[in-house]
Amino acid sequence: MTQIAVLPGDGIGPEVTAAAVRVLDAAHPGLSFVEAPIGANAIATVGEPMPADTVRICSESAAILFGAVGGPGHDHLPPDKRPEAAILGLRKHFNLYANVRPARVFPGMETRSPLRSELVDGMDLVFVRELTGGLYFGEKTLTKEDGHETVRDVLIYRDYEIERVARFAFALARMRSKRLTSVDKNNVLLSSQLWRRIVIEVAKDFPDVKLEHMLVDNAAMQLVRDPRAFDVIVTENMFGDILSDEAAMITGTIGTASSAALNSAPDANGFGLYEPISGTAPDIAGKGLANPIGAILSAAMLARYSLGDEAGATAIERAVSETLAEGPRTRDLDAAGGASTNAVADAIVARISKVAA
Ligand code: IPM
Ligand code: MG
Repeated sequence: MTQIAVLPGDGIGPEVTAAAVRVLDAAHPGLSFVEAPIGANAIATVGEPMPADTVRICSESAAILFGAVGGPGHDHLPPDKRPEAAILGLRKHFNLYANVRPARVFPGMETRSPLRSELVDGMDLVFVRELTGGLYFGEKTLTKEDGHETVRDVLIYRDYEIERVARFAFALARMRSKRLTSVDKNNVLLSSQLWRRIVIEVAKDFPDVKLEHMLVDNAAMQLVRDPRAFDVIVTENMFGDILSDEAAMITGTIGTASSAALNSAPDANGFGLYEPISGTAPDIAGKGLANPIGAILSAAMLARYSLGDEAGATAIERAVSETLAEGPRTRDLDAAGGASTNAVADAIVARISKVAA
C-alpha cells in the first residue's frame, strides 16, 4: 500500500489538509495516510519544529502532503527554532530543490483578479523556484562590530544547484509551451551572474525551448502589466518566494495557489512535498472558512508527480475547475455567500465520484 505522510501543521493547515486527503482518496483510492506533527504544534507537543519521528515517517512515504507552519509567540526565537524552520528543514533534508508553483486563472475567475479581467483571462504560468539554496539557507549572524549591531545573511549558490533547477525548468518548459523566462539580478549580484551563465549553458541542451532573461524588478512589473506573456519562469529562492505570491494574488486569491517541491525531473514520478502557498492564515484558522483548493490542487500535483497518476490529477483539476465556476466557493472568492471549507471539499469529491461512477 502506498503511504502518504500527512503533516497538517498550524493555522488553517489541518482544515485544508483534511479536505485534500478526502479528495486525493476519492481520485486515487487505496492510499494509506499517516499523520505527524510539524511546526508550532510540534514545538508545543514534542519541543521542536521538525521532530525526528516526523522525518522518519516522511522518509517511509511516497510523498508528503503538507499544510502550513507558523504561529504567534515565536518571534523572539532564532530562525532555526521557529516553526518555519520545519518547512525549510524538510526541503533541505529531502533535497527538494525544484519548487513548482502554478498561477492559473480558472474560467469564470477572471473578475476576482485585482487586475482588469481582460488582462488575466486564460492566464496560466508556472514558477520553478529554486528551493534549497540562496539566502534562506546561508549562515546568519548578528554581531556587534565597532559598536554597531551588524547582521549577515549569507547567499550561497553552487554551480550544480543552479544547473539542476535550470534543467528541471527547461524540461518542464518542454512539456508546456517551450518558453522559459529566467529571472535574476544580473546587473548587481555576482550570484545572478553565475545563475545566468549556467542557465545559458544548460539552454544548449534544450535548443527547442525559447529562453529569455529578465531582471527581477522588471519581472515584478511585467507580471502585473501582462501576466499572460509568461509561461515557465525559473528563479532563485527568494525571488521565487516573492514573485510567486505576487502571481498568486493576480489570479484573484492566494487560496487556490498550490505547490510541489521535487528532487527529480518533472516526469520522474519521484518523492515530493506538496503544500498550498497560502500559509497559516491565523485570522480565519479553526473556523472552517479557509479555501481548501490550494491544498486540493497540491494533492493533484502529488498524484501527477509522485504517483504517476495523470488521470487522477486531471480528475481533481477538472472537479476544481467546475466547482470554481459553479460553486460552492469560500468567502475569499464569494463575498456575498461564502461556503465552508468542508462544503467546497464535498462538492469536489462529489464531482470526482460522479465521473468515476
Ligand atoms: C513559502 C513560505 C516559506 C518560504 C516560509 C514559511 C519559510 O513563504 O513557502 O513561500 O519562504 O519558503
Ligand atoms: Mg512564501
